[in-house]
Amino acid sequence: MSTPTMPDSQLKDLEEKGFLDLKIDPSLNLVDEIHRLKKEKNAVILAHYYQHSEIQDVADYIGDSLGLSQQAASTEADIIVFAGVHFMAETAKILSPHKKVLLPDLKAGCSLADSCPAPLFKKFKALHPNAVVVSYINCTAELKTLTDICCTSTNAVHVINSIPKDKEIIFAPDRNLGAYLEKTTGRDLILWNGTCMVHELFSQEKIARLQVQYPEAKLIAHPECETHILDAADYIGSTSGLLKYTQTNASKQFIVATEPGIIHQMELASPNKLFIPAPPNNTCACNECPHMKLNTMEKLYLCMKHEQPEIVLPEEVIRDGRASIDRMLDISRTAGL
Ligand code: 13P
Ligand code: SF4
Repeated sequence: MSTPTMPDSQLKDLEEKGFLDLKIDPSLNLVDEIHRLKKEKNAVILAHYYQHSEIQDVADYIGDSLGLSQQAASTEADIIVFAGVHFMAETAKILSPHKKVLLPDLKAGCSLADSCPAPLFKKFKALHPNAVVVSYINCTAELKTLTDICCTSTNAVHVINSIPKDKEIIFAPDRNLGAYLEKTTGRDLILWNGTCMVHELFSQEKIARLQVQYPEAKLIAHPECETHILDAADYIGSTSGLLKYTQTNASKQFIVATEPGIIHQMELASPNKLFIPAPPNNTCACNECPHMKLNTMEKLYLCMKHEQPEIVLPEEVIRDGRASIDRMLDISRTAGL
């Protein structure tokens, strides 16, 4: 039973069929074609805020990991086209197993999910047999089968607070979100040592320089960031929390410490405000998620046309992984999220 982030056998199969090499007629209007295919196939496009802005613009729903899961669970479409990364599309498949779930690029993985291989985690879990396992949704479907309750950055505090005080808790795979939860909830967590390759790269020094340059700007940060960035932040929240904050806060300038794809929706919602991406601690554009950015309009079009690549999961993974996601959705519903 294995559900790796990049299923090589599936990729090989697609390569052999020539799917990965397909050329597109350059005169095609991809936006029109994608809208046509949506209608023709009763498909819905769910896009994460970190997607390229042109993909966000053709999506039916744009959201954070929780919102996307809620949409995947409730959609009446026959096909879910997931403009996001592999673990998100897997979650959609677990929640809607009878629907076809497509991911434009199967190689769109996640460093957090990759940091926590299920066989290793199984051994770790065995060291703490009485602990409740809470996993950030950024993990493989196989890890979800070893998890009691999933969480996203929107509901993580509610999930931890729902667990009786006398219970030990393992939190995987993000050690930064875990440390933030320890601080916020006052609970000791047994942490897995994983990180997001994007959120661990922000430069405190460069952010401090920006704060001197823009003294009125609010620093807003995703809880996957390192503790020293979070300690300096005016607001910490999930992608949807950050977006809401920029809409409701009176400030006109924001330094945004998360993947800069979110800035597209921030600018659409508040065209008169300035959004400055927090810089990474090197000279490349490494604050962009290389996995999220693998999806392109061309791949989106091709995947809708050919209904490939499709997310396929073993039945037992769907069955055993589902409970941890359902518990998360129940807690979110009760909390009004
Ligand atoms: P949220 O959308 O839940 O804030 O998560 C951010 C993220 O890193 C997704 O990969
Ligand atoms: Fe994974 Fe980080 Fe990319 Fe999100 S931003 S998909 S957590 S690598």
